[in-house]
Amino acid sequence: MTETIAAIDYTAEIKRLKKEKNAIILAHYYVVPEIQDIADFIGDSLGLSQQAEKTNAEMIVFCGVRFMAETAKILNPEKKVVLPDLDAGCSLEMSCPSEPFSKFKAEHPEHIVISYINCSSEIKALSDIICTSSNAEAIIRSVPEDKPIIFAPDKNLGRFLARKTGRDLLLWDGACMVHEAFSIDKLLRLHREHPNAKIIAHPESEEPVLKVANYIGSTTGMINFVKNDPHNEFIVATEAGIMHQMKKEVPHKKIIPAPASEDNTCACSECHFMKMNTMQKLYLCMKNEKPEIIIDEEVRLQALKPIKRMLEISKQAGL
Ligand code: 13P
Ligand code: SF4
Repeated sequence: MTETIAAIDYTAEIKRLKKEKNAIILAHYYVVPEIQDIADFIGDSLGLSQQAEKTNAEMIVFCGVRFMAETAKILNPEKKVVLPDLDAGCSLEMSCPSEPFSKFKAEHPEHIVISYINCSSEIKALSDIICTSSNAEAIIRSVPEDKPIIFAPDKNLGRFLARKTGRDLLLWDGACMVHEAFSIDKLLRLHREHPNAKIIAHPESEEPVLKVANYIGSTTGMINFVKNDPHNEFIVATEAGIMHQMKKEVPHKKIIPAPASEDNTCACSECHFMKMNTMQKLYLCMKNEKPEIIIDEEVRLQALKPIKRMLEISKQAGL
């Protein structure tokens, strides 16, 4: 089995299967470069959801993590949605189990629930509106000022949004282990070595990192920033996979990954869930059309409403 697989030209086979099965490959910026290079669309969570909503393909092959593929399935119940590895979870999703969250929600019945897309389908089903890092501000501002808001599961993004919008958000205590791994001391030291570099950060990062950032935005926002900003040097505080597209977009600029704390295995910060997507698993999942994403229909219908709401508000906001 291993010998046969080793002889396979994955790139050629994946391209062949894509045509044969009328499939679309959607990939997040954090997956390995080879997959980014073969994908039909690479994007942030909002871009990927928008692509999933409008695709005519019969099979959606999602190279990212499970909650992203689940969102695609919620939007496309009639299509087959596959993910190269079903174990590709997310620490933010894990930080918000549905039972305690549903109790928390019941304790605050007057609150509107806005959930970051990095959560399970069950949490989505308990939410009023979903948001991503690129539309979160517009989503919060769409809620009347007198309406209290629960924001889950990311406390770092929530704190950032509360500051930005002036709203008093009731936060769930969740976080992304990849973005929490950045060391502010090492970051400042690195900046002293590169004093001309602009620091750009994903809003899942902790407050001290966000405080020193010149730009805070989603992965697509960060890529656009390095493209459009006249500066030539950037320190990038998000998952290291993003470097691949940044280097492709601005090969003449210096892109430096922000350093993670001592106990992290790599100098930068990597999401091991995203890295579960390999060319071999991608090939096998396209060939065998599994693992497939299956969602309970009652949960799907409940989760669809806040996702649709997010897509409508984003459209109105021109996002
Ligand atoms: P965005 O790509 O939407 O900014 O999200 C980053 C992330 O952590 C995805 O899990
Ligand atoms: Fe989840 Fe963080 Fe990985 Fe994104 S980077 S998938 S938020 S664990």
